[in-house]
Amino acid sequence: MAQTHFGFESVDEREKAQRVRGVFDSVAPKYDLMNDLMSLGLHRAWKAYTVAVADVREGQQVLDIAGGTGDLARAFARKVGASGCVVHTDINLAMLTTGRDRLLDEGLALPTVVCDAERLPFPSDRFDVVSVAFGLRNMTHKELALAEMARVLKPGGRLLVLEFSKVAKPLEKVYDWYSFNVLPRLGQWIAGDADSYRYLAESIRMHPDQATLKAMMKAAGFGHVDVHNLTGGVVALHVGIKC
Ligand SMILES: C[S@@+](CC[C@H](N)C(=O)[O-])C[C@H]1O[C@@H](n2cnc3c(N)ncnc32)[C@H](O)[C@@H]1O
Repeated sequence: MAQTHFGFESVDEREKAQRVRGVFDSVAPKYDLMNDLMSLGLHRAWKAYTVAVADVREGQQVLDIAGGTGDLARAFARKVGASGCVVHTDINLAMLTTGRDRLLDEGLALPTVVCDAERLPFPSDRFDVVSVAFGLRNMTHKELALAEMARVLKPGGRLLVLEFSKVAKPLEKVYDWYSFNVLPRLGQWIAGDADSYRYLAESIRMHPDQATLKAMMKAAGFGHVDVHNLTGGVVALHVGIKC
């Protein structure tokens, strides 16, 4: 079995998927609260920016991958209206169920599918827009997942990848201190789980930087890729056009 990384650890590929599942099973009940606390609410602005750039229109078909508790799916559902469709998906049942219940409480019933981004159960050329927010980092075979995202997009369709990225040099020290000291303590205090938040900090360091991810998207079939750095590169939005 080939080796990959789970945070800073080297593990075999099958173990990675199981351990990622363990992380999200554990954090699902407190996921939204932790997101607000950890990012000081900034994740809402990053997602709002993603939705603005996506420019989803009424009647369009949208796929949200690794959709978790449904922030992007909800925003896109408002844009596509009754004539369009947003499919809310995730590999993790606990995350998806938390999101589905939350959306139902807000009066939104979306098609909800448990699926692995590396093997999407959708036909080719099906969606106008595909999104993945803070999900790609956790996938074992990122090239495979990106190729699947390209496959299910219509020609000319857009992929939006919102993900933690490489911060600007002047921010590095304070960002490292925050990531490795504050995050695990916050995770322990609020969710009773320091390890999952240590994994978060480590997985961010192991994720491809802006230029590498752009090259990976091009190799996966996105003829044009734009990169938007947000908050000094703490997060980057990569927008790929299938062409
Ligand atoms: C940090 S959460 C992001 C949730 C949501 N998109 C958001 O931005 O709040 C990462 C999500 O990626 C999902 N995930 C991890 N590996 C995946 C895979 N191979 N296929 C689909 N989803 C995956 C996890 O289950 C988890 O719900």
